[in-house]
Amino acid sequence: MKDMGFTLEKIVPWGRSLDEYVAMFDLTERDMESRILGCADGPASFNAEMREAGRRVVSVDPMYQFSAGQIRERIDETFVEVMEELRKNLDDYVWNRFASAEALGAHRMRSMKRFLGDYEKGKEEGRYVVGGFSELPFREWEFDLALCSHFLFLYSEQLSGDFHCRAIEEMCRVAGEARIFSLLTLDRRMSPHLEGVCERLRRVGLEFEIKTVDYEFQRGGNKMLRVWREKT
Ligand SMILES: C[S@@+](CC[C@H](N)C(=O)[O-])C[C@H]1O[C@@H](n2cnc3c(N)ncnc32)[C@H](O)[C@@H]1O
Repeated sequence: MKDMGFTLEKIVPWGRSLDEYVAMFDLTERDMESRILGCADGPASFNAEMREAGRRVVSVDPMYQFSAGQIRERIDETFVEVMEELRKNLDDYVWNRFASAEALGAHRMRSMKRFLGDYEKGKEEGRYVVGGFSELPFREWEFDLALCSHFLFLYSEQLSGDFHCRAIEEMCRVAGEARIFSLLTLDRRMSPHLEGVCERLRRVGLEFEIKTVDYEFQRGGNKMLRVWREKT
């Protein structure tokens, strides 16, 4: 795997739920029936909840090289820290979906527990696959839709513009369409890579649009980038 150097100590696990994925990515019934790849899904319960609803999603993340026990331990190590940080910056968030920091924390914990409960079985079923953006371990057109929430653009300071472009091209190689939410960095600025990414998409002939969606938690973070390519 090319995305080497990945260690659990560098990661703060924080997982979102199915209803959040539906809102962030504006998923329709038709989307939900399609072949979905969740990139950088980490400890989100999207995959587990879709499975419970009788649907199949494949999630890919370098984190899946670790066992449920190791991931649980990392969640327990970091949860209090994340909540403290959140309480210091309450005004950076919109409190309509979650009434309070405590409600948000409880929701995140429920999602991550749901993920952990499904993880080992999901691995056996090929629903949790070890891999990263440098080279997604899938065939061309293996999926209809590739999603990425809270990784690309969010870590713009740590990840280069070129990394972003290649990651999105990889998503569009394995799926006909990619959706990335949101476009903000950790400090709530529009990603400095967005313009360069859009230029590159135009150059390589990928279609794209920026869409406002019905999800805003990070204040101002209610836009997703949708990129697609025509079958040739
Ligand atoms: C903030 S979490 C987001 C989890 C989930 N998408 C959500 O919104 O709840 C970011 C995820 O990116 C994953 N990640 C880190 N490096 C990666 C890489 N090179 N390729 C793909 N995923 C990566 C981490 O393991 C982590 O699970």
